[in-house]
Amino acid sequence: MSTILVVDDEQGIREVLQDVLADEGHRVIPVEDGFRALEVLETGGVDLVVLDVWLPNMGGIDVLKRIRERWPEVEVVVISGHANINMAVQAVKIGAFDFLEKPLSLEKTITVVENALKMEALKRENRTLKQSIQSEDEMIGSGEGMGKVRELIEQSADSEARILILGENGTGKELVAREIHRRSRRAQAPFVEVNCASIPETLIESELFGHEKGAFTDAHAQRKGKFELANGGTLFLDEIADMSLNTQAKVLRVLQEMKFERIGGEKSIHVDVRVIAATNRNIREEIRSGRFREDLYFRINVIPIFVPPLRDRIEDLPDLIDYFMGRFKRSAGGPEKSFSEQSMRLLGTYPWPGNIRELKNFIERINIMTEEKVISADSVRRYLTSRSDWDKGEALKGFESMKLNEAKDEFEREFLVKKLEENERNITRTSRALGITPSHLHNKIKKHGIEIKK
Ligand SMILES: Nc1ncnc2c1ncn2[C@@H]1O[C@H](COP(=O)(O)OP(=O)(O)OP(=O)(O)O)[C@@H](O)[C@H]1O
Ligand SMILES: [Mg+2]
Repeated sequence: MSTILVVDDEQGIREVLQDVLADEGHRVIPVEDGFRALEVLETGGVDLVVLDVWLPNMGGIDVLKRIRERWPEVEVVVISGHANINMAVQAVKIGAFDFLEKPLSLEKTITVVENALKMEALKRENRTLKQSIQSEDEMIGSGEGMGKVRELIEQSADSEARILILGENGTGKELVAREIHRRSRRAQAPFVEVNCASIPETLIESELFGHEKGAFTDAHAQRKGKFELANGGTLFLDEIADMSLNTQAKVLRVLQEMKFERIGGEKSIHVDVRVIAATNRNIREEIRSGRFREDLYFRINVIPIFVPPLRDRIEDLPDLIDYFMGRFKRSAGGPEKSFSEQSMRLLGTYPWPGNIRELKNFIERINIMTEEKVISADSVRRYLTSRSDWDKGEALKGFESMKLNEAKDEFEREFLVKKLEENERNITRTSRALGITPSHLHNKIKKHGIEIKK
């Protein structure tokens, strides 16, 4: 159901529109002049305005102008008499969706109103999509680690300097690269990404430099390479350490001269491209072992930016969790969920080997998998990906230096305390859960000196 504001000084027209549009399932608010219309709009919730152009006091065109300025998302359909049809045309020029001519044809009225409502819904959808794309790019983290990264971005974005972004899998290297581009003078030009690890060795040159028609068997048409596509903008060479030595040599040449030929082509192509590279490998180690050219390293590593792993900036975890929970909720709906204090503590001890990408996936998974509104530590354990290793380590923490008997005793004590808590310290129920008799449980409680006051 949509809410339609009808503005007309003729009572007859207001009544007709009210009947027709209510029959179509809409809520109609009839008012007789422009001032009243603006008051109603101010209270919000109006999807469409049907507006007479010829109004007493404030004229329809003025009302329309105000609506366009203040509520750009609200569509307006104007009504005009035959005598003032040129005003209707003017109204469409300044942003009315369409106009209706008096005397009103029912059919036409319904069609135009439905179309305007459709347009309004599309605009709204478009806006939410845009917002979700924008928030995709947000860089969360106000701790010292990300602070340094931000500072480097700030200092280097506006320069033309080449940048090498280093960091483990999923730490946000690509996000940093995009942020640099966005803040650079090249922001309006393309950001082109090449993932050097995912392209087979035989295709990478064609991918980077393009080819002429007939350059090789499958080259049925001319194709531009990424260097050309990025002209004027930024080329992001991701996983650069995964490039073969042969390709490295060619890329080095382009970076020195900023010109190249398409495969099978003669013509030399000049480009103006800023290169940002990234790798999760230890690049010095790659150089030492002869897998990466040192001269290329110097070419790309004018400004290095190291993105620290999540476990070294765990202070950012609460903000990141908030952010991803919010995003999940926005895209999937459902009730507001949160983590219990205990599960937050637990998440803080997890080493996050997959970094932010793992955290993001985890939040999505746990939101889908659990019904709990306050997510418990048990669920957290269950839905963390690589928890097995960590759980083992976690379970053995504190036991490492003990003799077997000590460790068994200690474990028994902790286990009893946990089970007693779970069963609200009820002896009968706890013993049943443990599979021992109540008197056996009493003995063990005494032996371990566990207090069972409620
Ligand atoms: N600081 C951050 N704030 C919000 N989201 C982030 C942040 N860092 C990374 N992300 C998100 O985490 C995911 C992984 O980030 P990204 O792809 O940039 O990592 P990467 O370092 O390039 O990973 P890989 O080495 O695996 O290619 C992306 O969805 C990204 O939007
Ligand atoms: Mg990446």
